[in-house]
Amino acid sequence: MKLAGVVLLTVMVLHAVAAQAEAYDAVQARQGWVLNCMGCHTADGSGIPGKVPALRESLGHFVGMPEGREFVMRVPGASNSALSDAELANVLNWVLATMNASTRPAGFKAYTAEEIAAHRRPALTDVAKTRLGIVKKLQAKGISTVPEHY
Ligand code: HEC
Repeated sequence: MKLAGVVLLTVMVLHAVAAQAEAYDAVQARQGWVLNCMGCHTADGSGIPGKVPALRESLGHFVGMPEGREFVMRVPGASNSALSDAELANVLNWVLATMNASTRPAGFKAYTAEEIAAHRRPALTDVAKTRLGIVKKLQAKGISTVPEHY
């Protein structure tokens, strides 16, 4: 039947569009996360109070601002990780999609290997100061859910 064909095609196109918007490989990302990030940030990204910030439901706010988007690539844990530029982009896009569904901006553009390569180095040396500046900007925009201290 013709209608069924059209419906099937529409479903297939929508799947392709959704996959493109997400732009990450979940299997590789999980592996990269487990080997390079999870030891400090914990399995579900909640962090360790007093030591390691949560990445869950906060990174989405950071990437909503250019300086926050850059900060995420340049924090030492990300910048200095053994992950290649493409792998780091993949892990960050996955963290943003799976742990930041409610904070990631609607028009978020996925990180690319090229963007990571251009920005990840040098790693930030004044992380706390840079972070506080960004958190204050978020507060000025009415976002108070990213803690100043973790
Ligand atoms: C050795 C422990 C450690 C590892 C491994 C680590 N991080 Fe971190 N991460 C931290 C700490 C501590 C901070 C707080 C800033 C700082 O002091 O560097 C942080 C901050 C961050 C931030 C900024 C969040 C915020 O609210 O300030 C991001 C994004 C991040 N890490 C991503 C990653 C990613 C992605 C990986 C894996 C590729 C990773 N980190 C691996 C310890 C780690």
